[in-house]
Parts: sequence; C-alpha cells; structure tokens
Amino acid sequence: MFSRQVRRIRWKMRERILGLDRETPLLDGSTVTYVNLDNGASTPPILDAVEALERFMPFYSSVHRGTGFKSRLSTRAFDRAREIIAEFVKADLTENTIIFGKNASEAINKLAHSLPHKEDCVVMTTRMEHHSNDLPWRDHYNVVHVNTLPDGRLDEADFDAKLHRHKDKLALVAVTGAANVTGYLQPIHRLARKVHEAGSLILIDAAQLAPHREIDMKPDDHPEHLDFIVLAGHKMYAPYGTGCLIGPRRVFMNCSPDYSGGGTVNVVTENEVFWAGLPDKEEAGSPNVPGAIAMAASARALMKLSMKKVEEHEVRLTKYALKRLKEVPGMIIYGESDPDKLDRVGVIPFNVNGIHHSLLAAILGYEGGIGVRSGCFCSHPYVVSLLGLSEKEAVMWREEFLAGDKSKMPGMVRMSLGCYSTESDVDRLIHMLKKAASGDYLGRYTVVRETGEYVPEGYVEPFDEYFSLG
Ligand SMILES: Cc1ncc(COP(=O)(O)O)c(C=O)c1O
Repeated sequence: MFSRQVRRIRWKMRERILGLDRETPLLDGSTVTYVNLDNGASTPPILDAVEALERFMPFYSSVHRGTGFKSRLSTRAFDRAREIIAEFVKADLTENTIIFGKNASEAINKLAHSLPHKEDCVVMTTRMEHHSNDLPWRDHYNVVHVNTLPDGRLDEADFDAKLHRHKDKLALVAVTGAANVTGYLQPIHRLARKVHEAGSLILIDAAQLAPHREIDMKPDDHPEHLDFIVLAGHKMYAPYGTGCLIGPRRVFMNCSPDYSGGGTVNVVTENEVFWAGLPDKEEAGSPNVPGAIAMAASARALMKLSMKKVEEHEVRLTKYALKRLKEVPGMIIYGESDPDKLDRVGVIPFNVNGIHHSLLAAILGYEGGIGVRSGCFCSHPYVVSLLGLSEKEAVMWREEFLAGDKSKMPGMVRMSLGCYSTESDVDRLIHMLKKAASGDYLGRYTVVRETGEYVPEGYVEPFDEYFSLG
C-alpha cells in the first residue's frame, strides 16, 4: 500500500519523535508501546526541538536589555525564531510582525482586543470553529456565524451571502484552516480573495492546519494574501508553551496592547506612556524564549523534511484509516468518509453504535494503550449539528450538564494522525474497536457524573512507576 519513498519518510519522522518506544501500562497489568491518535489536541515533541533546547538552555538568559554575552545570544536566538516562523508561513517581516504568546487561544484573544473597530462592527466566523476562534470575538463584536452543510462542510453560498450582507461593517473574517472536529480543509485562499474584494481582512486559525499542510501567506498585495495567521507550538511538535499571531504591523502599531507592563514601553512618565515598537509592545513581561526556540526548531525540521511529503504521507494514511474504520461493526463516521473525496487532514470523528463515546475512548485507552479524545472537542454547536441532535435534545443535555451531570453529554470519538503515525497505529485502533464493538473488553467501567469520564472499577494508576516529581 505504501511506496518505498513514503516508508522512508515515515521512518525518518518516527526516529525524530520523542517517546514513541515507551511502554505504557494496560488494565490487565501488561504494557505496550503507546499509540497516540490524539495529535489534534497536542503532538509529542520532535527531537529537533528537544535538541535545540539542550544546546540553548545552558546559555539561556534575559532577552533584549541584558548586556552580557548570554543575553545577547538569547536575544539573537529569539529574533531568529521569528525569522524561521516567518519562513514557515512565507510571511514578509517588513510588512508583518510575529507576536509570541502562550497558545492559539491567546493569539486570537489578542487580535480580538487589538483590531481597530467601531461600536457596531461585525466579525464573521463559521459554525465549524473551535471555541477559541468564536468566543473571543463575542466579547468585542457582533458575531455572525456562517452555516455548515449537513455533512459538516462550510456552506460557501451562505458565506458569500453573509459577506455581501455585512461587508459595510465587517472588521474581520475569522476561519479555521482545518476544522478540529472533522479535519475539513477550508479553501482559505479562495475565501481570502472574496474577503478582500469585500474590503475586509481575514484571519486563518492555522492551529490545526500547520502541522499537516504547507502554509503560504502570499505577498501582502496578493488578492489571496492571508492577513492574520495563528499557530500553536504544541500542535506542531513543540509543546513548550508557545503560540503566535502573525499579522500586519500597521494594525498593531496604532493600538494599545492588551497587556501592558515591562518590555512594552519606550518611555513612561507619571502621566504618560510611549509604547515600544513591534513586537515588544505586544509581548508584555519576560517572553517564553525556550518555547519560541523550540517552535522554530520544529518548524525548521518540518520544512527540511518538506510539508509536501508530510501531506503525501498523511493523505495516504487518512485514506487507509477511513477504509479500515468501515470494517468495524456499527461504525458511524462523521463528515466525508469516502477516501477518494479527501478534503480533510487526518482528523476523523466517529462513534460505534451502542457504545457511549466516552466509554469507547476509555476502553481504547485502558485496554489498548491508544490515546484518542472524546466529547465535543471545544466545538459544541458543530458537534451538535454533526450528530443531528434536535434542539430539544440539545437543550436537555445542556441543562443536565449545567446541573453538574456530564454523564449523558453527547459526543464522538476523535482519532487524529500525526506525520509520524503509521498504518500499524491504525491497525491497533481497528483491532481494539472491533473488540469493543463485540463487547470483548475486560474492565467494568463506571461513569463519573462530574466529568463524564468512564473509569475501570478498582484500577489504581501506576503513575509513579513512570513519572513522579518526587
Ligand atoms: C482549530 C483550533 N483552534 C484553536 C485551538 C486552541 O489552541 P490552543 O490550545 O493552542 O489555545 C485549537 C485546539 O485544539 C484548535 O484545534
């Protein structure tokens, strides 16, 4: 199924990911190597990031105003990290700035605060967004949501109609590059062109896109230019607490920062503040320099391998997974499940008839050594619509949930591939799903009302044998 070239790439990537050979415990007392199919949430570290930090940390020191050698070196490394991230998305740093923060959510909140706008401005987003690309806008703007189609894809006719209707008051269109529930890829450049024709700007939440596809911001005067991009280090093999917002300098130059404090100013008097230039003004306090270095090292490793090769590998594997999932009795795949109509990254949500999503995820975790995620994935309206729940059903579970009972929360199981995933990871998943579907599992699971999680009765996690802070 896989060509020699693809096999070579895959193994090259597996060698570069930390911890893949680690054994983890199962409910029956045995151990297995862990299969991480939860890359959509966070990816394991790539060795290039780990090694860059090992080399850098002995020199770690304060950046910007420190005068010693270590400070000068740290400052240069921090600045270099920006240049590498710019290269990763093909951003022109004479026109744009890169603002480091702690994650994608913070980056989007920053833009929601910074974007100059009038009282009754509109931000258009979609019904397939992660809450992080929806809720921050609600605090500052009138938010208009573009509909999705019954299969979960973007309703582009609705996008066009709403763009036309709101164009006079439109401050921004904020869309995901790849949906975190279904993995659907958005036609980001086509949407950008339309948004520019309507006289507005576009933000691409690329948290879920960046680890899987090449991103090209395009020149600033290009009709399909992406005005703002958001990235999350922990989803691109650098889980060290850094994300970033990339966007036009002119936008950030003329606003006051969302957080003020050390590092954000040029001059302060008792009554006046003169803000520093970019990006310092937008990075209050001491920045996470190691996080930025790790993220840049990872971006560089991905570029060196080539994102085209990552894409090629993941497309093949996603097709393989879609094909194999259909072997499981009672399998329901949400979104497009035809392997030949692939407009998604390797994120696949599913359910198995008759088994609660949270129980299924628990069986995979405790008995298969397979990490997935279950629930609504911080995209409640989208999941409710994909599940086809009626408004009455949705209201019922929301009320139960708010009353403290999460046990009946609707949802799905989500598998999400990384560039190091293999068909044998998928095979292990299918094997366990088939067992679960036929009732062939060991544990007696009880649900915890407060969390909605299923846990095997009487099981004590042997965490201390694996890691402890002492
Ligand atoms: C599409 C998307 N946007 C934003 C976020 C939020 O990312 P972070 O956890 O880095 O804030 C996520 C996280 O899953 C995501 O999938």
